[in-house]
Amino acid sequence: MKKIIAFGGSPSRKSINKQLATYTAHLFPNAEVEILDLNDFEMPIFSVDREKVIGIHPLAQRFFDKIGTADFLVISLAENNGAYSAAFKNVMDWTSRIPEKFFQDKPMLLMATSDGARGARLVLEMATSRFPRHGADIKATFSLPSFYENFNPEMGITNTELKNQLLEIIHSIEF
Ligand SMILES: Cc1cc2nc3c(=O)[nH]c(=O)nc-3n(C[C@H](O)[C@H](O)[C@H](O)COP(=O)(O)O)c2cc1C
Repeated sequence: MKKIIAFGGSPSRKSINKQLATYTAHLFPNAEVEILDLNDFEMPIFSVDREKVIGIHPLAQRFFDKIGTADFLVISLAENNGAYSAAFKNVMDWTSRIPEKFFQDKPMLLMATSDGARGARLVLEMATSRFPRHGADIKATFSLPSFYENFNPEMGITNTELKNQLLEIIHSIEF
């Protein structure tokens, strides 16, 4: 059985991105799913000065090691002011110092959602162009607009067209 690691790029307890990543990971057949919570990887704000003192932060090492155990990654990024959440960017900054390619060539479904109609497309575009430099093998991307109109905690994606789009993506991924 293949292992999927999924997480939302947000520190919110009720993160809609964590909800979307969790839901999506469970749509893959025959997969063992592990959900990460960014709050378990909270580190001081990265600086080269802190790095001189701390070296590789143990939580960054743990994050890196977790990614290493995955056969596939499902990530849904929150958009804050047109970019990554500070919590995700900080994990990224610390972990990118272990090796720059901290995604370790793992295949990935990269997603984003927001409560707005643009569905966090800015951060999705940013990550789509940037993550390959960090060793991400992006197989597909998906943006879910207007989360609260299109997602229900019990049923998942309620908009048929969007749900079919996501299912098609999942079926197209060799897994
Ligand atoms: C400081 C801040 C900045 C935000 N900036 C954006 C933005 O640029 N684009 C957007 O679509 N939503 C933005 N939002 C709304 C978020 O998409 C919304 O809070 C969403 O729930 C975040 O995802 P999460 O629940 O996974 O944290 C922002 C929210 C906050 C609190």
